[in-house]
Amino acid sequence: MRSVIDIVDLSVEEINGLLKTASDIIKNPKKYSKKCKGKKIATLFFEPSTRTRLSFESAMLELGGSVIGFSSASSSSASKGESVSDTAKVISKYADIIAMRHPKEGAPLVAALNGDIPVINAGDGGHCHPTQTLADLLTIKREKGGFDNLTVGFCGDLKYGRTVHSIIGALSRYNNVKIVLISPNELKIPSYVKEDVLDKFNMDYIETDSLEDSLPSLDVLYMTRVQEERFTDRNEYERLKDSYVLNKEKLNKAKEDTIVLHPLPRVNEISIDVDDDKRACYFKQVENGKIMRMALILMLLDIAKKDKSKFTLNDNKIVYNKFKCSNPVCISQTEQELKGMAKPVDNGNYRCVYCDKDF
Ligand code: CP
Repeated sequence: MRSVIDIVDLSVEEINGLLKTASDIIKNPKKYSKKCKGKKIATLFFEPSTRTRLSFESAMLELGGSVIGFSSASSSSASKGESVSDTAKVISKYADIIAMRHPKEGAPLVAALNGDIPVINAGDGGHCHPTQTLADLLTIKREKGGFDNLTVGFCGDLKYGRTVHSIIGALSRYNNVKIVLISPNELKIPSYVKEDVLDKFNMDYIETDSLEDSLPSLDVLYMTRVQEERFTDRNEYERLKDSYVLNKEKLNKAKEDTIVLHPLPRVNEISIDVDDDKRACYFKQVENGKIMRMALILMLLDIAKKDKSKFTLNDNKIVYNKFKCSNPVCISQTEQELKGMAKPVDNGNYRCVYCDKDF
C-alpha cells in the first residue's frame, strides 16, 4: 500500500509519470471519465479549504468515482475526541482512498499508518502540502517547458508556508535549479528544509529580504500568504502581514517570461492589477491541481489494487519511544497514545518523524 505524505514519497520517475498522465488527461479527458467507477474518495478536512478539497472531489467525480467526507473538524466525531488513528480505521471501511487536511503536523502520517487504504496529505499544519506541489510542477512544466536550469524565487512566509517546503523538496531532484528565498528574518525557511533538502542536495540558494532586488533574476516567482492561523503572537502577524506586496509596477522589474505563482488563497500579497498580466499563472495552477490530483488518485488506486499490504515506514534508523516531541502543533502532542518516533540527523540531533522538528 502506498500513501503520499511528503512530496519526497514520490520518486522523480513517479512525478514524471504523473505529469505524463496529466498531459494525457488534458488531451483526452473522456478516456478517464470512468476509470474510477465504483471507487470512493473520503475528503477528511479538519481545517478550512476551498481549492484542495473541492479539487480532490472534482478530480474523483471526473474519474467517474464518488465522494464522501467532511469539511470541518466540528462536523466530525473529532469534536467528541475521536483520534486520527480511529478515524482512519473507520473510514477504511467506507472508502477506497483518503485525502486528509489537518492542523496538526503528522496527522496524515498517523492516518496512513493506522488505516487500510491509501492516504494523501492535503496539508498538515505548516509542514507539507505535496499535492499543491504537483499542481505547481504541472504549471511550471506547461509554462516553462521543464524544471532544469530555472531560478525560482519564493517570497513571503517561508517559515509556515507548507507549499514552499514541499516544492523545494521536489525541485531538489532536477538539475541546476537555483533557489532565491525572500522573506523577513522572522519568516525564514525552517532549518530542516535547509539541512534535509537545500544542503543535502547541494542546491544553489540565497536568502534575502528584498523582492525588488531579486525580481530581475527570476524565471519563476512563487508568492505566499503570511499564514495568520499559524502565529501565536497576534502583534507579530500584524507587523509582518504586509511584508511583500507584488503590484504591476514591481512586476515591471521582472523578465517578460517570468511566471508568477501563488498557491492561493491570497490576501494582500499580489494586488489584483497583476491578474491581467500574462505572467500571472496562479489561476492556471488551480486547474492544474485538479488534473494532477486525478493522476495521483489513479496511481495510488492502481498500486492498492496490486498491493494490499499495510503502509509502513521502512526506515531502520527510526527509534521508538525514546523521545517526546516538544512541537506544540505536532500530532504526537495531542494524541498521547502515539508512540514517539525519531530519527538521527547529521548534526547529532534527533528529528521527529511526524513533524520534522529537531530535538
Ligand atoms: N492552495 C490551497 O491549499 O488552497 P486551500 O487552502 O483553499 O485548499
